[in-house]
Parts: sequence; C-alpha cells; structure tokens
Amino acid sequence: MNNLLAGQTAFITGGSGSIGLATAKRLAEDGAAVLLMGRGQAALDKARDAVLQHAPGAKVEIFAGDACVEADVEAAAKQAHAMQGRLDILVPTVGGGGGFKPILLNDVASFRESMDRNLVSAFIAAKTCVPLMTHGGAIVFLSATSARLGIAWLSAGATAKSGIEGFMRSAAEEFGAANIRCNAVRPGLTVGGNAALMAPEVKQAYMDQSPLAKAQNRVGKPEDIAQAIRFLAGPESSWITGQSIAVDGGNELRRNPDLFDMVAKVHGKPAMDAVRQGRKP
Ligand SMILES: NC(=O)c1ccc[n+]([C@@H]2O[C@H](COP(=O)([O-])OP(=O)(O)OC[C@H]3O[C@@H](n4cnc5c(N)ncnc54)[C@H](OP(=O)(O)O)[C@@H]3O)[C@@H](O)[C@H]2O)c1
Repeated sequence: MNNLLAGQTAFITGGSGSIGLATAKRLAEDGAAVLLMGRGQAALDKARDAVLQHAPGAKVEIFAGDACVEADVEAAAKQAHAMQGRLDILVPTVGGGGGFKPILLNDVASFRESMDRNLVSAFIAAKTCVPLMTHGGAIVFLSATSARLGIAWLSAGATAKSGIEGFMRSAAEEFGAANIRCNAVRPGLTVGGNAALMAPEVKQAYMDQSPLAKAQNRVGKPEDIAQAIRFLAGPESSWITGQSIAVDGGNELRRNPDLFDMVAKVHGKPAMDAVRQGRKP
C-alpha cells in the first residue's frame, strides 16, 4: 500500500464484478477515490462495503445504471468527477458473457449483444470520460486471451476483444496529446462471473496447458488482474501507452485447450459434429 494515487478519482464500470471490485480495492488502497457502476443495486452496496473494509476511510461511491446507455454513463461519470472535482482513471470492465456459441449455432441478436456489452460500452465510457480527464490520466481496457489466440466457439468474445485492442490503440493515439494513456490487460481464465468458463473441465484443461497455472495449481485470481490494471493506471507506467499485457499464467505460450467435449454437453454431440464439418445441424 502507498499513497501514489492520493487525490485522484477512478471510475470503474462493472465495479461490482470480480475484476472490477478487485480493481476498486487496489486503487482505493493506494489513495484513489473510486466510483463503481453496475446495474444491480444490491451488488453495488456489497461492493462498496467490501472496498471500505479493504481500505478503511477510502472515498467510495456507487451508481446503478447500464454501461450500454449513454445517459447512464454520463450521469455516473459526472458523479465520479464531482467526488473530488476531477477524473483521472477509467477502467471499463463491462464485458464477457455469452458462453460457448459455435458460429453456426449463434444468432445475430446474441452476436450483436456481445459487441454492445464488450465494445460499445467501452466506447461510450471513453467518449464520455475523456473530456472530464482534464489533468491527463489513464484508461485501462479489458481485453482477453481470445484477442490473440484462435479460440473455437468463442468467436463473438474474440471479435469484441480484438475490437477492444484496436480501439485502445486508436484511443492511445487520439488522447496522447492530452496526456491520457490508453492500455489494456488481457486476462486468461480468471475466477469470476462466467459460470461456463469456470466449469471444472475448463479449469483443468487450462491448468494442464499453462506453465504457471500448472506450477501454482490455480487459474487467475481477480487480484492478479487488478495488480496489472493498477500498474497501467498509475505513475509507474507513465511512459507506456497503446499496449496490451497478458496476465494469464503463461496460457498464451500454448494453444487453447480443446473444449469439444465440454461444449458438446451444451449443444449436443450431433450438433457439434455437424458444425465441425461446417454444416448446420
Ligand atoms: N473472468 C475471466 O476469466 C476473464 C477473462 C478474460 C477477460 N475478462 C474480462 O474482464 C472483464 C470483467 O470480467 P469479470 O469476470 O470480472 O466479470 P463479472 O464478474 O461477471 O462482472 C461483470 C460486472 O459488470 C456488471 N455489468 C454487466 N453488464 C453491465 C451493464 N450493461 N452495465 C453496467 N454494469 C454491467 C455486472 O454487474 P450487474 O450484472 O449488476 O450489472 C458486474 O459488476 C470483462 O470485460 C471480461 O470479458 C474476464
């Protein structure tokens, strides 16, 4: 713990989620005031209590709203700015979800929804917050391993997170003159909200294929990701922009595990056999 972020304010969308909450704790611990945004009031109340327990005396506020709705994000960002008359750090964590969906079994509405949740929410957050970041600052986006490794049956997430990385690099160029740095963290499998990804067979496959996961007998913890976000948000990384850092126990050194059997439990083996042949079941 240090006071390196004292006087700064951070806005975290998805602040009641696994990675969002761990990030809020880490930033508050180092002196930042934090505003957590999520849709569920009860989860937000619980998250605020957890941050205060972790960093007693911290300035913590919450805002219930939808990160895909511009008016909600504008109101939340305004509230964050009002906490100390400035906004310095933005961490748009809303994203993920969707589960395993082979391309031939997916539908337009679901694919679009994934773009909205992961990508459009981050665009809205950046567009809204940058004009309030008048002292410069940092934006740390959430990418994923699927932005780098080809991963079957997660095409919507892979598309959205690849988009996040492209958006992040454009934002780094556009906002550099305002001394606003833009970077991303690429988590590997991390304990969190996505139940399908936390299935025992997925965890095991991950541990079998990731060098550090095997050595440490674990998948990622939200705190692992929060440490990297804290680094990219703080003065230690003041000369870094436009970068994406994998925090994944070495998973990207390997190919992604074959999850066919697990996904077949969701969609049925005949359907999966068909889509593997490029046929509609
Ligand atoms: N966990 C992993 O293994 C992993 C791996 C790679 C990348 N990531 C990325 O890391 C990020 C965070 O993941 P996580 O595991 O921490 O997720 P999580 O635990 O499911 O948390 C998601 C958070 O976002 C909030 N949220 C969802 N939709 C929202 C919306 N439209 N508006 C406002 N808030 C919304 C949720 O609260 P409400 O439902 O109450 O709104 C919750 O607070 C995601 O972008 C994900 O893609 C995660």
